[in-house]
Parts: sequence; structure tokens; C-alpha cells
Amino acid sequence: MYRTLYSPQGAHINLDGRDIINMASNNYLGLANDPDLVAAAKEAIDKYGVGPSASRNIVGNFAIHDELEEALAKFKGVEAVLVFNSGVAANTGVIPVLVGKGDTIYSDELNHGSIIDGCRLSRANVKVYPHMDLAKLEEMLKEPTEGKKLLVADAVFSMDGDLAPLPEMAALAEKYGAMFMVDDAHGDGVMGPYGKGTVEHFGLRDKVTVETGSLSKAFGAAGGFVAGTKEFIEELRPKARSFIFTASPLAPCLTAAALAAINKIADDDTLVKRLWENREYFAKRMEEAGLNTGSTVTPVIPVIVGDAEKAEELSARLYEKGVYAQAIKFPVVPRGTARLRVMISAAHTREDLEKAADAIIEITKEMGII
Ligand SMILES: Cc1ncc(COP(=O)(O)O)c(C=O)c1O
Repeated sequence: MYRTLYSPQGAHINLDGRDIINMASNNYLGLANDPDLVAAAKEAIDKYGVGPSASRNIVGNFAIHDELEEALAKFKGVEAVLVFNSGVAANTGVIPVLVGKGDTIYSDELNHGSIIDGCRLSRANVKVYPHMDLAKLEEMLKEPTEGKKLLVADAVFSMDGDLAPLPEMAALAEKYGAMFMVDDAHGDGVMGPYGKGTVEHFGLRDKVTVETGSLSKAFGAAGGFVAGTKEFIEELRPKARSFIFTASPLAPCLTAAALAAINKIADDDTLVKRLWENREYFAKRMEEAGLNTGSTVTPVIPVIVGDAEKAEELSARLYEKGVYAQAIKFPVVPRGTARLRVMISAAHTREDLEKAADAIIEITKEMGII
């Protein structure tokens, strides 16, 4: 069973009828209920109505889609972007266009489910390497293969908050003649100057073949996208099955909201800075208390307790104290690494963060975890 929300997303939400501090959403910049995004969405409804009613390749390509793609391409520093109705659709759509039968994909074992599905749909051979194990990855890349090669990874891993070593991976891709795809769903709006993403953070723009992203997280709307060269995006448009077969392209109001988000952060890094200040405060509180936060370096902060029951108990007791953070357990994470996943937002006040940190420390002490 899942819980029900009776309010917009925010630092405080009404969950199942009670007001609670929300530390479980991907609302990194607090934009999901931002007045500028809400106004842009309302304006788009007045202008374009609600339903797209056709695939973009037929008559469902609204002017606002073109505007968003242009703005996103500029923001990401790429030639072109294609917007999908979700990040899942972007990943499942793009991978089968990059590779097919007889080709080989090299994929981190903790890659997002939609990357895994995209790999399966492509019918390429998939070689899965242990999480961030570059020695093993190189061993695999050395093995002789026919056809094209594709190295694919999340930039920020959503259950651990750790960062893929993209510079080393790009060097390996180059050395062994592989294309390099990065999914930056949790890095866009978070990493790099002005939240331009993890590729920008590492200065790797010309080393990455394609990038995928989501508009449902820091950008506060919904939808996904693929960023790359003009030539590749032109190739993708008539080929990506999750793009061509849907008469549910990203709704104009959500497209407008995502565009408003880009416009809001493109030359004002106030929210990105606040997010990182909040992240540093909270991570420090957890670490000083002796809690295990794994290898996080981002606003995804796992509090690893090991046992699935312990993680559930911690989440439930926290809920009683007015703080919501989700317990994550096997099969989402490996057995023995169950955790509370705390998601930091720029919308959290210092008071919210203090209250949540105090409660986690108090409960974990009572449970004998620290
Ligand atoms: C790494 C990663 N890629 C892709 C997605 C899918 O994005 P969306 O929520 O836009 O479908 C997610 C989100 O849940 C994710 O964490």
C-alpha cells in the first residue's frame, strides 16, 4: 500500500490527512509548487487546452515543446534535445536506437530500471559490471566483440547518492571505441554550475555521446529528454518507439512548467546553492552522530541500517514524529543494506532539517543503531 497526498509537493505535505515534513520527494529545488511554474502551466492550459490528443509526429507537436527543447539544449550546452513524456520513456526509447542485435552494452549493476529495460529492448548483448568497478569494466571492454559498443550509467545513483566516475568512464569508452551514454536524472538541476548537470560538473560535454534526463525531479514538472547532436536527435525522432507510438506526449501544461523551471534557474543559482547548503548541513549532522550514510556526495542521503525491519521501524517511528522518509530495502537495494532514504530539498528550512535530523538521531539511539 502507498500513502496518499492531499496537498502539493513541498517541504511540508498533507500525507494521509496529516501535516508532515517531507523528506522523500525528488523535489530538489522545491519547484513542484513554485508560483512561476504554476502560472506557466495555467497559461499553457488556457492557450493549448489539456490533452495533447496525438503523437508529436502527427499533430501533437505543440509550439511549447519546441520552445522547451530549444531552452533545454541551451541550458545543457548541447546541439539538440528531444522531450519524451517521462525519463523512463527517454531511456527505453533511446537505447534501442543506439544499439541493436549483435552490439554490446556495458551497464553498471545499479543502473536505473529504465536503463535496464532499454538495454533489454535493444536486443544487444548486455554485460553488467559490479557497481563502479572500473577494473572489471575494462576487463569486459577488452573482450573481443562484433558490432557497436555502448557504455551506459546513471551519473547520480538514486538509492545511494554516489557519483559515477564519469571522467574515467569516458576515458575507457574512448580507449575501447564505445559510445558513452549518461542518465543524469538526479544530477540535472543539482550538479554543476547553475545545476547544468554532472557532465558539465566534470567538463565532459564532448566526451558523452548522448545524455538522458528527467523533468520530474529538480525541474519540478514531469517528462524526460534525450540530449545530443542535431544529427542524432533527427535520427531519434522517427525511430524511438516510446516517442512515436504514444498519443500522450508531454502535456502542454507540464511542458510549460518545465520551461519555466529552466528559465528560473538558468541564470540564478540561488536555489541550487540553497539545496547544497541544506545537503551539507544534514549530511554533517548524520555523520557527526555516527550514522552510516554510505558514499553519498549528493542531496540523496541514505541512512543505512542494514536490516529491512529496522529500516521500516525507523521510517514508521519517524512518521510518528512528523517526518516522512522512505525505508528502502531488497530488492531495490542489496540485502543487508536496507536504509532510510532522505531526500534534501532547497525548500527545507533550517528548522525542518534540524527537526528531521534530531528525530533520526534520537530514534536510531533508542533502537541501538548508534
Ligand atoms: C536514474 C533515473 N533515471 C530515470 C528515471 C525516470 O525518470 P521519470 O521519473 O521522469 O520517468 C529515474 C526516476 O525515477 C531515475 O532515478
